[in-house]
Amino acid sequence: MLSVKHLIDTYSLTADDITQILDTAASFEEVNNRAIKKVPALRGRTIVNLFLEPSTRTKSSFELAEKRLSADSLSMGGSTSSVVKGESLADTIQTIDAMNVDMFVCRARLAGTPQKITENTDAVVINAGDGKHQHPTQAMLDLYTIRKNFGHLDGLKVAIVGDLAHSRVCGSLAPALKTMGADVTLVGPPTFQVDDPDWFGCPQTSSLDEVIEDMDVVYMLRVQLERMEGAAIPSRREYNRLYGLDMKRVNRMKPEAIICHPGPMNRGMEINADVADCAKSRILNQVNAGVLTRMAEMYLLLGGENNGVSA
Ligand code: CP
Repeated sequence: MLSVKHLIDTYSLTADDITQILDTAASFEEVNNRAIKKVPALRGRTIVNLFLEPSTRTKSSFELAEKRLSADSLSMGGSTSSVVKGESLADTIQTIDAMNVDMFVCRARLAGTPQKITENTDAVVINAGDGKHQHPTQAMLDLYTIRKNFGHLDGLKVAIVGDLAHSRVCGSLAPALKTMGADVTLVGPPTFQVDDPDWFGCPQTSSLDEVIEDMDVVYMLRVQLERMEGAAIPSRREYNRLYGLDMKRVNRMKPEAIICHPGPMNRGMEINADVADCAKSRILNQVNAGVLTRMAEMYLLLGGENNGVSA
């Protein structure tokens, strides 16, 4: 059992919660590698995917995870719901809730939307990314990928690089890594750094070149062009020169070090095309882990342990 009813952020999760999610996800590896990728663990449970902002990875992996757990699911988007006719979020949630659903998975442009949903339903809510706030299920798949690669998380040195201030990925990943005993260094241009110099006890620097040789994981953040709101950024080319991951920098990384990116990538800006596809890249491993960890989160939050994983 997790210590939380909903999965809204990572700073509410204990090390035991995170370990349970990662271990349960590992137990689903075998299911995902079968010819028939299905177990009855959430049979009869109803899950609503409410995606009010575009998504490729998160939406498709939740939908696949639900199918693999035999849940009944329904996907709704902002443009296909009565939200476009002016219905409030509270009315939408109460309407769906009246159909006796068990879980809402919500992606929203507005920070705080998943929390708001918890106030209008007794169902479990998973935050699938809300504005600049949090993306906890991304953090869990990142931790899964890193732990699978190294066998542990404690003591690892992780640089999170790029658009720190606008990034819900950074806001979720950094505290989760710290909870699991990793050392996190934030790297970004001064205009992209977080305001609090003691944010989750993570040192910040504006020089990737000063830290790259010391890191086990270099985690490149997407430059969120759609969330800039006038922030001063160098040109694409200048950003790439100062903060982009190119092969010259990759060749200075430790031999066993790895590269992660949450996607979608701006190839040629924060990460060069050849780097994204190089042997150190774990970007597609992260995508694969997304299905496993989302299966684990839904399974644990819906009390699926009574239903049997292996049947
Ligand atoms: N990483 C991530 O959240 O990707 P999507 O926006 O495609 O879901």
